[in-house]
Amino acid sequence: MMVKRKTKFMCQACGYESPKWMGKCPGCGEWNKMVEEVEVTGATRRGAFAHSQGGAVIASKPTPITTIETSTEPRILTKLNELNRVLGGGVVRGSLVLIGGDPGIGKSTLLLQVSSQLSQMGNKVLYISGEESLRQTKIRADRLGISSENLLVYAETNLDEISRTIEGTSPSIVIIDSIQTIFHPEVTSAPGSVSQVRECTAELMRMGKTNGIAIFIVGHVTKEGSIAGPRLLEHMVDTVLYFEGERHHTYRILRAVKNRFGSTNEMGIFEMKEFGLEEVENPSEIFLEERSRGASGSTVVASMEGTRPVLVEIQALISPTSFGNPRRMATGIDQGRVPLLMAVLEKRVGMLLQNQDAYLKVAGGVKLDEPAIDLAVAVSIASSFRDKPTRPTDCIIGEVGLTGEVRRVSRIEQRVQEAAKLGFERVILPANNLSGWKGPDGVQLIGVSSVSEALKIVLGD
Ligand code: TYD
Ligand code: MG
Repeated sequence: MMVKRKTKFMCQACGYESPKWMGKCPGCGEWNKMVEEVEVTGATRRGAFAHSQGGAVIASKPTPITTIETSTEPRILTKLNELNRVLGGGVVRGSLVLIGGDPGIGKSTLLLQVSSQLSQMGNKVLYISGEESLRQTKIRADRLGISSENLLVYAETNLDEISRTIEGTSPSIVIIDSIQTIFHPEVTSAPGSVSQVRECTAELMRMGKTNGIAIFIVGHVTKEGSIAGPRLLEHMVDTVLYFEGERHHTYRILRAVKNRFGSTNEMGIFEMKEFGLEEVENPSEIFLEERSRGASGSTVVASMEGTRPVLVEIQALISPTSFGNPRRMATGIDQGRVPLLMAVLEKRVGMLLQNQDAYLKVAGGVKLDEPAIDLAVAVSIASSFRDKPTRPTDCIIGEVGLTGEVRRVSRIEQRVQEAAKLGFERVILPANNLSGWKGPDGVQLIGVSSVSEALKIVLGD
């Protein structure tokens, strides 16, 4: 289909239009308000205003909210439960999913495995590789033990050819590996540039929504963020997943950062093995695997990652500042929480921490992003500062307020359950969380209402 494009510049403040870019808008006199607008005429626009229902696109008209049917979206379940959960319960037909991640992290491996499983279940899958030749893909597939007639592999980078092939083969799932290698022949800039990536994604989205095809798009993230990458596309697609992990570790974490069909913050854990990715069903066990027992500065917290509790170790190293300003470094937790919690310890508990460097780390490469880990962080800092080890069988949960109070957290039953499952004997938790329920057998629940109370119990202060 032919699509016509016209480029113009438009003032964001007053709407003044100009064929070329200008620093100062002649219309309103504002500076730096002119932005490039690409006018598109042709069929592509339709996708933006239509909505999908059960995969097919129907033109929308104002409808009383009471008469809208809410039958759930049809989903395709993959054999990887970790992926299904992160997607919000399987692949939604007609949805556009972006998988971002560093080069070499395992995106192609994951998608090839998923393609193979889905094709074995009878779905026609079209795997389009712009990075690897058919032979290279086949070698990888052999290594992963994949062979299925329903899995079509296609090495192509021209979007027109890709569109034609999708229309010709009518697959139910399409994989684009990667968006940075695909080009729209009518856009003049190089593959990987902002306009290429945006236009190609828009076209793929239209195609997916119209034909009810689920499309997975791979996008590489670069450290500098210089190449137009996943960030740019986040608002366009339905679901954004990031595949993360440290290259020298075998664990990989798949995280949802946007999901129109499910909750975000959901996390799936995989291990990269010799013959592909394997699911990790008990993440807590791995995160605690290398814990050194009896060391000071180490605590274990039960943190919620989406709907699932995971136990992770939080390590702190507090050592006297030898020169200049004390350092406050944190990996895996919010940088801003560390000075805050140290100030609470200083003011409310009376620990002299201002001449101390503090290094905080969440073991296992996880990122924790919830206030319920505050108390464990504070106890780790105190334990390292006093050089007193914590008990390896204690699990610590609670949010810390500025007066040193310990505040209630959500989903306490699930967190405690997970701690009990992994053999923890005591759970130190907010006293306010204790009313109205009884924990599982074999675990002692100790409610605390302040940081100093928690330190008395855990470190015997
Ligand atoms: P890949 O999926 O090519 O990464 P991406 O598409 O994100 O760039 O993963 C490449 C890495 O994974 C490479 O270092 C080799 C490793 N790998 C395994 O360890 N086992 C396997 O079975 C496969 C296929 C790859
Ligand atoms: Mg790849």
